[in-house]
Parts: sequence; structure tokens; C-alpha cells
Amino acid sequence: MDGARCGLWLGGYVPLIGESVGPTGRIAALDLAPENIARVERLVREGRCAAPVECRVGSVLDLPFAAATFDGVWCANVAQYLTEAEFTRAMGELCRVTKPGGLVAVKEFDATLLQMLPLDPAIFARLAAARRAKAAATGLLGAWCGPLLGPFFRRAGLTDLVRKGWLIERWAPPPRPTRQFVAMGLRFQAGLAAAHDVSPADRKALQAAAADPDRLLDDPDFCLREAFVVTRGRVPA
Ligand SMILES: C[S@@+](CC[C@H](N)C(=O)[O-])C[C@H]1O[C@@H](n2cnc3c(N)ncnc32)[C@H](O)[C@@H]1O
Repeated sequence: MDGARCGLWLGGYVPLIGESVGPTGRIAALDLAPENIARVERLVREGRCAAPVECRVGSVLDLPFAAATFDGVWCANVAQYLTEAEFTRAMGELCRVTKPGGLVAVKEFDATLLQMLPLDPAIFARLAAARRAKAAATGLLGAWCGPLLGPFFRRAGLTDLVRKGWLIERWAPPPRPTRQFVAMGLRFQAGLAAAHDVSPADRKALQAAAADPDRLLDDPDFCLREAFVVTRGRVPA
């Protein structure tokens, strides 16, 4: 688990969901890692969520909630760490805890579209292809699974599927959070390149960028471009 990579945005959806359900609504936040739940608890203590939040450590494979508890469920950036079999089970759990007629939404990245310009625009796509080839043996969904989750929703019996993708761009000059995110992301991607079947040229380019992220970040043509997809379905009434 690339826990460090979660650090910059972890729990960031809780305040947004709080805005949407309002002070009369209620939110339950769940994550496998106690330290990540502690972050959400801190965020709630700081008054950054408009709705009351119940924080739980637990797994999406075995949710500690009764059937038909929630009007809607949001699961962000978790599917990529699961195998196909595990995500099938997780979808069953997400549907079980959602009321009939309620919504299940899953957000995931499409790492095949990641770019950090002016690095070669296709370098991360090639790395994602190498990761995907290796993951085929284990069935790991991986960070490219965002656009590929429709079949899991249909098999779980969800109806009214809606899929929507977003492209996020951060052009030069990047703000501080983007600089931190990119520096961390480059270290992560260089580590992946070392462990996967990519060309020596790609490995070298990623290692060089990770060793000196400021060079990339200070380039007047720098741009971070990343894409994600939200898939949403309805639990049959
Ligand atoms: C990239 S972080 C995303 C965190 C948060 N969902 C968000 O989007 O802000 C991935 C998270 O997945 C959690 N995770 C991995 N496997 C899990 C599982 N089986 N059940 C629940 N959480 C899991 C990790 O602990 C980690 O916090």
C-alpha cells in the first residue's frame, strides 16, 4: 500500500460529503488503517465537516454496518488496492449496507492518462501498461481501473449506471501542495519503474525526475494532468 501517497488528500472527501448531507445528516467514515481514520477524526475535531461523523477502522470486504443502513455510499481510491475477487466482494458489501433505491459510487484513477509535462507525455502510460501486465497474474485492479468498473456494478445488480471522468490540470507555476504531491508521486513512480518491466530510458528519466523534482516543477511548461472516473449505480428498490 502506498500509504505515503494518500497523505496529501486523505479524508478530503469527508468535508465535501458533509456539505452535501448537512448538519441534520450523518456520515460514517471507514478505512482499514487506524492512522488514516485518526486523520479523519482530527479533521472532524477541527470542525471541517458540517455533518456528524462516526469514524470506524474496518475493511470494505466485511463492513461493520447492518444491511440497508445508508442512503448512499462513496468509496474513493480503494478499489485499486483490491483484486477482482476482493472488489466483487466489496461491491456486495457496499450494496448490502445501502438502502434499496440508494446510490453506490466508486471513484478511481486512470493512471494510463497521468502526465507530468514536459516529461514524455506517454511515460506513465507505458509504466501503467507494465504494471497492468504484472497485475494480470494476481488480478489486482490497480490505479488504472477507474474506467473499468462498470462490469462489477452490473454483476452486483446495480442499475442506472452513470460514469463520469475528470481531467485535473495544474499548470505552471504549481502551488505548494502540487509541488509536494508531484515530488512524492515521482518518488513513488520511480520506485514502480524500478520494479517493473519498463525500458532503461524510462527508468532513468523517472529516477532523474524523482531525484530533482524542482527541475520539473520550475519548468515554465510544467503541467500535472491526472484523470479519474466516478462510477455510480442504484441499489434496486
Ligand atoms: C489512496 S488512499 C484513499 C483514502 C481515502 N479513501 C480518500 O480517498 O481520501 C487508499 C486507502 O485505502 C485503504 N484501504 C486499502 N484496503 C482497504 C480495505 N480492504 N478496506 C478499507 N480500506 C482499505 C487504505 O488504508 C488507504 O487509506
